[in-house]
Formats: sequence, structure tokens, C-alpha cells
Amino acid sequence: MSKSLKEIVLPVAGGTALALSAALLIANMDYGQTKIVSLENKVEQISLRAEDAAQRASKEAETVSQLRQKVAEIQAVAEERASAGSDMTEPAPTRDGAFGLGRGAMPEEVAAWDVDVLPDGRGLPEGRGDVFTGDEVFAEKCASCHGDFAEGVDNWPVLAGGFDTLADKDPVKTVGSYWPYLSTVWDYVHRSMPFGEAQTLTADETYAIVAYILYSNDLVDDDFELSHENFAEFEMYNTDGFVIDDRPELEYSNWRTEPCMEDCKPSVEITMRATFLDVTPEGGGDSVMNDASAEDTPTFVASAQTGDTTSGTETVAAVSASVDPELIASGKKVFRKCQACHDVGSGAKNKSGPHLNALIGRQMGSVEGFSYSKVFKTAHEEGKVWDEAALAEFLAKPKSYMKGTKMAFSGLRKEQDLDAITAYLKSVGE
Ligand code: HEC
Ligand code: HEC
Repeated sequence: MSKSLKEIVLPVAGGTALALSAALLIANMDYGQTKIVSLENKVEQISLRAEDAAQRASKEAETVSQLRQKVAEIQAVAEERASAGSDMTEPAPTRDGAFGLGRGAMPEEVAAWDVDVLPDGRGLPEGRGDVFTGDEVFAEKCASCHGDFAEGVDNWPVLAGGFDTLADKDPVKTVGSYWPYLSTVWDYVHRSMPFGEAQTLTADETYAIVAYILYSNDLVDDDFELSHENFAEFEMYNTDGFVIDDRPELEYSNWRTEPCMEDCKPSVEITMRATFLDVTPEGGGDSVMNDASAEDTPTFVASAQTGDTTSGTETVAAVSASVDPELIASGKKVFRKCQACHDVGSGAKNKSGPHLNALIGRQMGSVEGFSYSKVFKTAHEEGKVWDEAALAEFLAKPKSYMKGTKMAFSGLRKEQDLDAITAYLKSVGE
């Protein structure tokens, strides 16, 4: 009996033995014959069940030992690999002049990284593939994105055509029309395609695919075969389309004069970021500032500051009844100019400027936790309140309406922008 079998069977057998001895003990205590018979029956039943259990246990034990064997096999293979793979498990070698860290890269590791191919064919593995095979592999592995004829599906890159468009306003740069070296095609495809499954292509598949891409560009006939032997001979269409950059020698000196360092601005400040100038598409990137876009803001909650107890829905109704939704929408656009510094909507936080929720009717300089400039503090002490007129005047020329304000914003020039921003700020309630 194997060790594992014992482990499982013994508790069962032990249980049976206990029951047996208990039964015999009772039998010895001079009970009536019938009782003894029925007890004997019971004992028999118990031992039958025990046999049953033992059988099941032995089956399970067999599975267990099979699994153990598998584990042992896997371990053996791993150990063999480890010992073959030189010193992976040994302590790091100490090397003079180094820091005693790490180990030398193994030849296999170097080979795995060393995949680049140069224009003269250096770095190419041996292999070959023809257009016909390439067509098949391309259809299977590349056509879903690049199209059956390398024409590009939807917005995926086009790999063929575009010849003689390079001087156009909209040049079509493809492997055929633009790439100067075949080695770039081989290397790029082998290294990084299919997109998402990089480095799954064999050398032969890559030769075949590259042959097929050349064929799609009408650069070879359908019986063409590409191999490590004829690779370097192949001339791409645009080989001579590139020049060595000679600007450092010929031109830089014409542009470079001593920089003028007089009458410079005393200091330079960042006043606006690209995200808020709408240069960066909305929703792009993980920028926290992007998240603060006004897109998902308007939420209406009763304002604590103004003591406004109107319920949310009533506020919405009142706003939409009184203000043109188009004006609000254009105000939301104007607000992009403010967004870098001001937040609105539920959960709005102070940025470099205070949040602007429930602004109309709010006391000037009253947002808790925001550190206002002196002029705002004074306005607050004087009990001044934002109404539409004050806001329009302030926003038109912040620095003259609030002399000494630290709001670095030059102002809104257009009357319609002022109307729009007011409508929008009214609509965001609190
Ligand atoms: C899932 C879509 C997808 C598949 C499948 C795919 N590609 Fe691409 N391919 C791309 C994308 C995306 C790019 C652009 C990648 C970039 O610019 O970083 C690209 C770029 C390329 C380029 C460079 C184009 C250029 O002009 O810059 C080549 C060549 C190319 N793929 C060949 C292949 C080949 C060959 C296969 C099949 C083995 C393949 N691709 C499979 C999506 C795909
Ligand atoms: C470069 C950052 C910046 C920009 C852009 C900016 N603000 Fe300000 N804003 C501030 C700062 C800082 C303050 C606080 C001023 C102070 O304390 O002097 C402020 C104050 C305000 C106040 C007074 C708030 C209060 O609680 O009293 C209003 C209203 C306001 N800004 C509206 C706007 C609007 C509307 C825009 C866009 C059209 C805008 N701001 C653009 C930084 C900015």
C-alpha cells in the first residue's frame, strides 16, 4: 500500500475497527441472543460499507499518486532546465570593478533581443517564402486590418500604392511608395506584427509576407520568391527619395546668431494648458484635469451657501424655463477658458481659483477653504454679492474691476460670450 493510500484508507479502517470493538464489547455483556444476531448484522453492514469506502479511497489514492507523479515530472524538467541554463539559481558572481550585482546575459537572451535587420541583409535568419504562400499567410494574419490587398481596412494602415503622391498635399506613404529599405519591412513585420501578437511569425512566413507586400505594390511578379540570398539585391522604389541631412553644416550657421538677452520679460507664467484650449480631444488621456471637463457636470442640489432650499427639480425647471438652452450650451464652451482654474458641478473642488457653483447670489470671496487675494477679502467684508451685472463687469476686465486680484485672466471681449457664460454659470446651480 502506497503511503498516500494509507493516509486515506486508515481513517476509514480505523473507524470500522472502533465500531467493531464497540459492538463486541456490547455483545460480551451478556445481551440476549437476538440482540447479538442483530448486532452481528450491523457489524456485517458496517464492514461492507467500509469495504466500499476503501475501494473509493483506493481509487482516489490512485489519482493522487498520478498527480504526484506529474508534479515530480514537471519538477524534474524544471530542474534540468535550470541546470542547463547555467547559473540562474547560483548566487550572483562577483566581478571586479562591477557592483557584484546580476549576472552576464546568457547567449539565448542576447539572441532573443538581437533581432534587428540591416539594409544589406545583416541580421537576417536563413529562410525563404514566395508570393503565393505570402498571400495565404497575409490573408490569415494580416488582412483583417490591412485588407486582402494591403489596401487597409477602415483606418488601419495602407501598405500598398500611393506611388508618386509624396509631393502632394496629402501624400500616401506606404511600404511601396515611401519605405527606402526592404530590411525595415522585414524587421518591422517580424518584430511587431500581427498587431497584438508580435513575434509569432516564423522566418519563412515573414519572407513570404514581405514578398506578398511587394507583389501588392506591383514591385515583383507573382512567381517571386524572397530569401536571405536575394534579399540584399532588392531595390525599393523610394530608395533615392531620402537625402543625408546636411543642414548642420550648410544651414544652421545662417540661422544662428547671438541671442538677444536684453529687455526680456521679467517672468514667464503658464496661464493656460492645451487641454483647455481644446487642442487635446476631450476624453483623451488619463489627466485628472481632463476629467474635470464640464461635460458631465450639471447636477442640481440645494445650495447651503445661499440658504437656497429649492429642490433640485424645481431649480432645473426654473432655469430651463427662463434661459435659452442654446445660450447655456455656448456658455459651456466659453467656460473652457475658465476650466483650467475653476471647477463647477457636484463635488466641484477649488483649483487655482474657487469653485463657481451657485455663483449668482453668492457673496464675493466666500468659498470656504479658498485663499482669496486682499481685494476679494475686502469685497467679502463689505458684503458684496455676485449679480449678473457685477459678474459681466468683472469678467470683461478682471484686473480693473478687482484691482489686485490674483485671477490671471485677461477678460472676455465679446458681449455674447459674457451673456453665455452668465447663463451657463446660472445653469450649473450648485
Ligand atoms: C489587429 C490589427 C492588425 C493586424 C492583424 C496586423 N496589423 Fe500591421 N499594423 C496595425 C497597426 C495599428 C499599425 C500601425 C502601428 C503603429 O503605427 O504603431 C500597423 C502597421 C503595419 C505596418 C507599417 C505601416 C506603415 O506604413 O507604417 C506594416 C508593414 C504592417 N503593419 C504589416 C502587417 C503584417 C504583415 C501583418 C500580418 C502578419 C499585420 N500588419 C497584421 C494593425 C494590424
Ligand atoms: C488662470 C486661472 C483663472 C482663469 C483662467 C479664470 N479664473 Fe476666475 N479666478 C481665479 C482666481 C485665482 C480667483 C481668485 C481671485 C482672487 O482671490 O483675487 C478667481 C476668482 C473668480 C471669481 C470670483 C469668485 C468668488 O468666489 O468670489 C469668479 C466669478 C471667476 N473667477 C470667474 C471666472 C470665469 C467665468 C472665468 C472664465 C471666463 C475665469 N474666472 C477664469 C483664476 C482664474
